[in-house]
Amino acid sequence: MASWQQGSSQDLSTCFPRILFLLALLVTSADGIVSSLDECLVLPTAEGSTVSCYNVTEFPSPLPADIVHLSVEFSNLTELPARALQACRRLQELHLSSNRLQELSLGSLTPLSRLRVLDLTHNELRGLPLGLFSTLADLRTLVLRDNQLQDANTGLLWGLRSLEHLDLAKNRLCVLPSGFLLTLTALRTLDLGYNLLETLPTSLLLGPSRLQRLHLEGNRLRKLEFGLFSFQPFLRILFLNDNGLTVVQPSAFWSLRHLDMLDLSNNSLSSTPPGLWASLGRPSRDMQDGFDLSHNPWVCDKNLRDLCRWLHANKHKMFSKNDTLCEGPEAVRGQRLLDLAEPGSL
Ligand SMILES: *[C@@H]1O[C@H](CO)[C@@H](O)[C@H](O)[C@H]1NC(C)=O
Ligand SMILES: *[C@@H]1O[C@H](CO)[C@@H](O)[C@H](O)[C@H]1NC(C)=O
Ligand SMILES: *[C@@H]1O[C@H](CO)[C@@H](O)[C@H](O)[C@H]1NC(C)=O
Ligand SMILES: *[C@@H]1O[C@H](CO)[C@@H](O)[C@H](O)[C@H]1NC(C)=O
Repeated sequence: MASWQQGSSQDLSTCFPRILFLLALLVTSADGIVSSLDECLVLPTAEGSTVSCYNVTEFPSPLPADIVHLSVEFSNLTELPARALQACRRLQELHLSSNRLQELSLGSLTPLSRLRVLDLTHNELRGLPLGLFSTLADLRTLVLRDNQLQDANTGLLWGLRSLEHLDLAKNRLCVLPSGFLLTLTALRTLDLGYNLLETLPTSLLLGPSRLQRLHLEGNRLRKLEFGLFSFQPFLRILFLNDNGLTVVQPSAFWSLRHLDMLDLSNNSLSSTPPGLWASLGRPSRDMQDGFDLSHNPWVCDKNLRDLCRWLHANKHKMFSKNDTLCEGPEAVRGQRLLDLAEPGSL
């Protein structure tokens, strides 16, 4: 009996803070909904608490005041309650992927001035209010991939002066205003792949002039104008595959002195203009990660001599050699471009 009482009072005293904590979690939230963190994993770390919730039925509330990392993912949540994050002033990472969020209200992210990562992958966002991101001056990574965004408002991203990684792939963007990325001077990686873009304003990349990786694949681009890449001396990786490119201007690539990878596969190119290739690959730069020109309707006549010379010099970096074929003229139809690139063949 004595030992039971002893054990009990000791257990009670060590448990007491935990009971208080659980009670605190069960208080009625601002919305009048009783909720708890029961379904979430809460881990204290030296920096602050991390909270991870998967497959939950409502947004966790209230959150620990010292929270630094919050994940609420794979839960099909349809809204982020407007005041859910009001007390999370130390939050550094917010992961809300794989829900069904259709909108985010203006002000819902305002207190998060220390946020570094915001991931909204695979939701149903159709638009975002102007000013939503205006206080996130520390944000490094913004992922809006796989949503239904249609309109890109000129000032939407202004204020994100530390942003290094922007992912807008797999949305429904048709048109981008020329000032859309203007203030994103720290940007290194930009992914605009798999949208509905038909043209890009030539001054789109004027602000982010230190890009290293650019994804434009899977759009509806027909032409590459001079100007778009004019201020990208550090670009290393460029994806332009799966578009409908028929025309590339002769000087389109001239400032790309550090390009290591170029994917132009699956376009509608039958020829490229003289001078286009001179700045790429040897001798100014080895295209060390390779290039892909396959699945284009190349017409292998004398207009392709310039490309063939370049191919020959860089053939060790060429991908999909067997799928880079001549579609015409009839005499060489089906032959590999590389075989015709042997000196004297064309
Ligand atoms: C979310 O929706 C998907 C697809 O409808 C379903 O498979 C999954 O079980 C749902 N998850 C939750 C937490 O309701
Ligand atoms: C998600 O939660 C629902 C009930 O809310 C459950 O039926 C389902 O099995 C859960 N799915 C996973 C993957 O945990
Ligand atoms: C080629 O690109 C089109 C879009 O332009 C896409 O629908 C198709 O699947 C792509 N083909 C291959 C083989 O990747
Ligand atoms: C390319 O074709 C040649 C012969 O035409 C064959 O020997 C080689 O294995 C093929 N390469 C690939 C990667 O399929």
